Amino acid sequence: MTTLTFIKPDGEKTTVEATNGATVMEVAKENDMPMLAACGGSLACATCHVIVDEAWYEKSGEVCEAEEDLLDTAHGLTNTSRLCCQMKVSDDVDGMVMTLPPMG
Ligand code: FES
Repeated sequence: MTTLTFIKPDGEKTTVEATNGATVMEVAKENDMPMLAACGGSLACATCHVIVDEAWYEKSGEVCEAEEDLLDTAHGLTNTSRLCCQMKVSDDVDGMVMTLPPMG
């Protein structure tokens, strides 16, 4: 079983189990993380923005151009920001740590 760790805007750390093949956004929603993910994963919002821990960024996968463009609109963009509906759960990201930016 793969695990992912989310750090909420208030600093609380939550480690959850994730099924390979799901998107990280689906895992976050299933576990009631504070995330809007307004477009449901169709790459049409930027409200599934997460800041990937630097040590994990390389493993988080390819960033396509559409994701890059949308990320530019995300609040609090960083060099390791991702839209987590575009990240797939796999053995490669077992243990990955992400910070959730404040909503809104
Ligand atoms: S949920 Fe809208 S872009 Fe990820």
